[in-house]
Amino acid sequence: MKLVGNRQSTYDADSMAFTRQRLTRLLALVGSTLLIASCSGRDEQPLTTFDPAGPFADRIDGLFWPVFWIATVVFVLVQGAIVVAVIAFRDKDSRKEPKQLHGNAKLEVLWTVIPALILAVIAVPSVSAIFDLTECGPDAMEVEVVGHQWWFEFRYPDTGIDTANTMVIPVDQEVCAQLSSEDVVHNFWIPSLNGKRYMIPGQTTELRLQADETGEFWGHCAEFCGLSHSLMRVRVIAMEAGDYQAWVDGQLQPAPTPVEGTPEFDGWTVFQSKGCTQCHTVALDDDAGSNIVADGAFQGPNLTHFASRNVFAGAILPEDGETYDQALKRWLADPPNVKPGSFMPNLALTEQEIDVLITWLGSNQ
Ligand code: CUA
Repeated sequence: MKLVGNRQSTYDADSMAFTRQRLTRLLALVGSTLLIASCSGRDEQPLTTFDPAGPFADRIDGLFWPVFWIATVVFVLVQGAIVVAVIAFRDKDSRKEPKQLHGNAKLEVLWTVIPALILAVIAVPSVSAIFDLTECGPDAMEVEVVGHQWWFEFRYPDTGIDTANTMVIPVDQEVCAQLSSEDVVHNFWIPSLNGKRYMIPGQTTELRLQADETGEFWGHCAEFCGLSHSLMRVRVIAMEAGDYQAWVDGQLQPAPTPVEGTPEFDGWTVFQSKGCTQCHTVALDDDAGSNIVADGAFQGPNLTHFASRNVFAGAILPEDGETYDQALKRWLADPPNVKPGSFMPNLALTEQEIDVLITWLGSNQ
């Protein structure tokens, strides 16, 4: 018998240690969650919705907090009542069996009507915000945003600019993003500028964007869209009106035509001979007669002025601590290794071919 008792106490000690360990882990989890939540600035958390940078994101933020506090009050009241009831009416030896009830009509009406009223009050600003945030204003600048597996394309109908991964907009100007998709359903989301909106093949949906300050705003595809959904990112860069105009002027220039005998020219030759033009367009000086327009089944990013973008490959590269050239080298050596499922294949380029390609791409400002 003694042996059994010893075993039992060892088991209890183990079980207590186990419980203590779980408790410690739980506290660590709660602590780190609070810590993460406390640094909700855009610098630490580039995809935070709690740091709005324009009127549409402000509108969402302005809705969130009142709803959050109403929900908090309801939570505390309901949970508090449960805790009080559990403690005050707990079973005791001295307690007689309480009177058995079959419901209380007054109470039931009350706790149906109160939540219904709260929801009705919250619904008024919520529903009006849903419509206001998606119906563009009359003076908005249109930009067509097209989802691809796995990158975003931006077409500016007023100027004919066609770019990728980096969306450049003027500050204090409403932009009407016309969303569509070339393949599957994606979702365009720039948390500092507005909420999410689906991009649906064969349809156009609208989303209003506006930045009140200059800067770079991160975004991400917010709908699972295949193997590299988690690597489908995007940047919005908001510029002062003058800088924006300079960007437009630069983009409208043809890319520099490489001069024979230079590494740029060698890169340009590799680009043309390795099948890159099946998917990628490059607008060179028409006079040079070498304007390249992709005619393949997959339309990859337009590479004209590639080097003017600060990110590439679905805005996942370059990574922190990596130069543009280092990232390009990694990417060109084996794209599907960097972005699984990438439609850009491993072209088995030699190191020398990659080097001249990088030089040519780098000259493509
Ligand atoms: Cu596109 Cu997820």
